[in-house]
Amino acid sequence: MASVPSLAATVHQRVSDALSAALPEAASADPLLRRSDRADFQANGMLALAKQLKGNPRELASKVVEHIPVAATSADPDPVIADIEVSGPGFLNITIADSAITATLAARAADDRLGVPHAPDAGTTVIDYAQPNVAKEMHVGHLRSAVIGDAVVRILEFTGEKVVRRHHIGDWGTQFGMLIQYLIEHPHELDHKDKETSGEEAMSNLNRLYKAARALFDADAEFKERSRRRVVDLQAGDEETLALWRKFVDESKLYFYSVFNKLDMEIRDPDVVGESGYNDMLVETCRLLEESGVAVRSEGALCVFFDDVKGPEGNPVPLIVQKSDGGFGYAATDLSAIRDRVQNLQADTLLYVVDARQSLHFRMVFETARRIGWLDDKTHAVQLAFGTVLGKDGKPFKTREGETVRLVDLLDQAIDRAAAVVREKSEEKLGLTAEEIAERGAQVGIGAVKYADLSTSASRDYKFDLDQMVSLHGDTSVYLQYAYARTKSILRRAAEGQTPVAHPELPLSPAERALGLHLDQFAEVVREVAKGYEPHKLAAYLYQLASLFTTFYDQCPVLTAEGGPSQVANRLFLSELTGRTLHLGMDLLGIRTPERL
Ligand code: ARG
Repeated sequence: MASVPSLAATVHQRVSDALSAALPEAASADPLLRRSDRADFQANGMLALAKQLKGNPRELASKVVEHIPVAATSADPDPVIADIEVSGPGFLNITIADSAITATLAARAADDRLGVPHAPDAGTTVIDYAQPNVAKEMHVGHLRSAVIGDAVVRILEFTGEKVVRRHHIGDWGTQFGMLIQYLIEHPHELDHKDKETSGEEAMSNLNRLYKAARALFDADAEFKERSRRRVVDLQAGDEETLALWRKFVDESKLYFYSVFNKLDMEIRDPDVVGESGYNDMLVETCRLLEESGVAVRSEGALCVFFDDVKGPEGNPVPLIVQKSDGGFGYAATDLSAIRDRVQNLQADTLLYVVDARQSLHFRMVFETARRIGWLDDKTHAVQLAFGTVLGKDGKPFKTREGETVRLVDLLDQAIDRAAAVVREKSEEKLGLTAEEIAERGAQVGIGAVKYADLSTSASRDYKFDLDQMVSLHGDTSVYLQYAYARTKSILRRAAEGQTPVAHPELPLSPAERALGLHLDQFAEVVREVAKGYEPHKLAAYLYQLASLFTTFYDQCPVLTAEGGPSQVANRLFLSELTGRTLHLGMDLLGIRTPERL
């Protein structure tokens, strides 16, 4: 179905038309329409315009009003605007007709997509997210990239964008020399003896091996030398060495997938293209950069310089593409990945969901790519830079011993807490089985972790506070999940013959109007969120929706409405549409909404 224009869009159009009818020279002026507490909408545009034309704003506003059809004066049997008045220094206060609110919502409800259009300018986005490092434990930084990236993928795909996912895992580097050499000298360390290995076991194997290899590397100069030679073999593509390297990657993937699974997140194997995936391009990338003069040799290293990037003493800090010993680093890989993503994957947008602490790296990489023409006006690159996860004390999140917190432990704690909340609530009325409590505990716990991350703007740091995250009151996913479950429970409790049907002829109470006008904004919010990669605005919208629904539910009896069967039907309709909007909105954030809670 075609998209449903929102009431805001319709009113905006009417005021614009009236403006140009009243004042032809104002044809392109913005009426500056926004939601308002005093009426449904307020238009402030007349003030600036009058000032510009040296006229009286109240007079201008009155003239505009004459050109807007309203219920009392219009021949239109279904007027959108019930009332409009000039107020204050020259604002327009606009009240929407109840019938228009219900009719617009009915049009949304008739559409699977709730009236959200596909973006007219959809293209191809390659998104780089959820990129942990091989043979290393995942931490909260990897959580942020995964959670934000997954939400952005869902939102963009929903608007019709073609999205190619890339998990740029850290699977290459000199540390593999030491690990592989150790494995050669201790060959049974990663054997699974025919039994299935869990993700946790895989990680603990890797941890043990890493520690042992590191200890030997630091203590034994000859092992160090053998490890160094092993790096050379690895880079030269020696088969035996590569086979062992692959063992590390596979073992790590077992672990990554178990964590992503716990996070209720789909990561597909072909989308995991780590740093090693660009090895074949590195030499050429450097050659192209050097030949074009974008990069120059400096003390043997291949470097790109920037006027505005200086070290503490004012000396230039270059982007090093190739080290003086011939080794390639993080930058060479990222520049090669840009070539691949633009030239082979045909991306017009490159999105990187990466920690803000890597912003300088990406600024230099993007600028280098622009200088050589791999990025241009038609293709642009954006780092969706996220802030740091802090502990309750406001310092970067660490264990009491000062170590990085293991992501798995955090997720398990969140699930335990959530299960306790679900158990307590459900004992009151639902009588859930232990299995159901476990399943919902996971959905609520993981939802809580994701929502806490997604509900603050990505660029900001946030505090990881489990007590707050699983609280039933306040801006939490649990609160939203309960609101959803409540819409479902009302619909289940409806008697035979009580079905959700919109009745535009019925007058609405204030709580119904407020809920209805908010529901109508969904499509616009999704569009804005997709444009700016801002899931937190969707979270804020959904939280407000749940709050407005709670007020509606407190003030307006649904199944026992005094206005008779058509009012019951209309209130059921509002409940159902609220439920569908919450469900779809939460789904776009990657959060489950259990039917009963
Ligand atoms: N593996 C890196 C880390 O753990 C993140 C990779 C980000 N993506 C990229 N294309 N450089 O910090």
